Amino acid sequence: MTIASAPGKIILFGEHAVVYGRPALAVPVLQIHANARATLQTENQAQTIAGPSLAGKNWADAVLIAAPDIGLSTTLSHLLAAPTPHPLAAVISSVFQVLGIAHPPALQLTITSTIPVASGLGSGAAVSVAVIRALSSAVQCPLSDEQVNQLAYEVEKLHHGTPSGIDNTVITYARPVYFVRGQPIQTFRVERPFSLVIADTGITAPTREAVGAVRKLWEADKGHWEAVFDQVGTIVTAAKKAIETGEIASLGPLMAANQTLLQAMTVSSPELDRLVWAAKAAGAEGAKLSGGGRGGNMIALVAPERAESVASALKAAGARNTIISQIE
Ligand code: MEV
Repeated sequence: MTIASAPGKIILFGEHAVVYGRPALAVPVLQIHANARATLQTENQAQTIAGPSLAGKNWADAVLIAAPDIGLSTTLSHLLAAPTPHPLAAVISSVFQVLGIAHPPALQLTITSTIPVASGLGSGAAVSVAVIRALSSAVQCPLSDEQVNQLAYEVEKLHHGTPSGIDNTVITYARPVYFVRGQPIQTFRVERPFSLVIADTGITAPTREAVGAVRKLWEADKGHWEAVFDQVGTIVTAAKKAIETGEIASLGPLMAANQTLLQAMTVSSPELDRLVWAAKAAGAEGAKLSGGGRGGNMIALVAPERAESVASALKAAGARNTIISQIE
């Protein structure tokens, strides 16, 4: 049996513009994670679980998948036969394809996750990374981080259409990432740790839709939106410098400036704006949405001693859940 785990993530600065080649900063959130457990089955066990006989059936009949959190209990064959490709089927098939294993062994794959889905915290990418690692280890061909990241990116394309690759990268490497699409992974140094409150609007919002909406805006007026993305890029560069030199006080205004540009991109929402406002009213130094937006999560920069009271204020303002995270 092999078990693998992958963390959630938040984007500190630069979401959406990162799809268009501008830099972004993201960090893992270790308090939440996706887990995958792969157990090789003997032929007999697989037959008992999958049905009376596997004779003449596809190997995918003997790959049993359970994701109790979302009520899924099925075989890989079932998922592969779905009219639209299921990301889980894609991730499992691609692992064996990359490993050159034409007839994978019978196995049971169980997936659990504490990362809320469609909320900007990287749940899809974390499940992919955990599954890729659990499966490749189960067949004793563990993949390198680079291979895991590449495979997870291919699956992200099914989830999101045109992902930048930031989610799978920060989740695969589980460290702070200064990300530029298509460039090798770069990390950044946190000179002085700082605290964030992450608050969930409770509204699920698929990243694909928010990314698609920004693309429509961009297609209608590329000159304007390229200039907006440039402004986001300038904010990200300034934020990276501030984090690396320990000038945490300048992050608050940079978050506000980034949030204004995200509002212009139409990816904020009344609920996100309300939480941003509530965080600032409760003493946060800055706040913005994080991830795809239109729901999902926002982040608030707080002095450590204010973290609990800002979290309470966010709950009072309607947040479904809050996480206090130390960035170091
Ligand atoms: C999603 O976490 C971040 C977005 O910028 C999309 C992407 O980079 O693929 C909204």
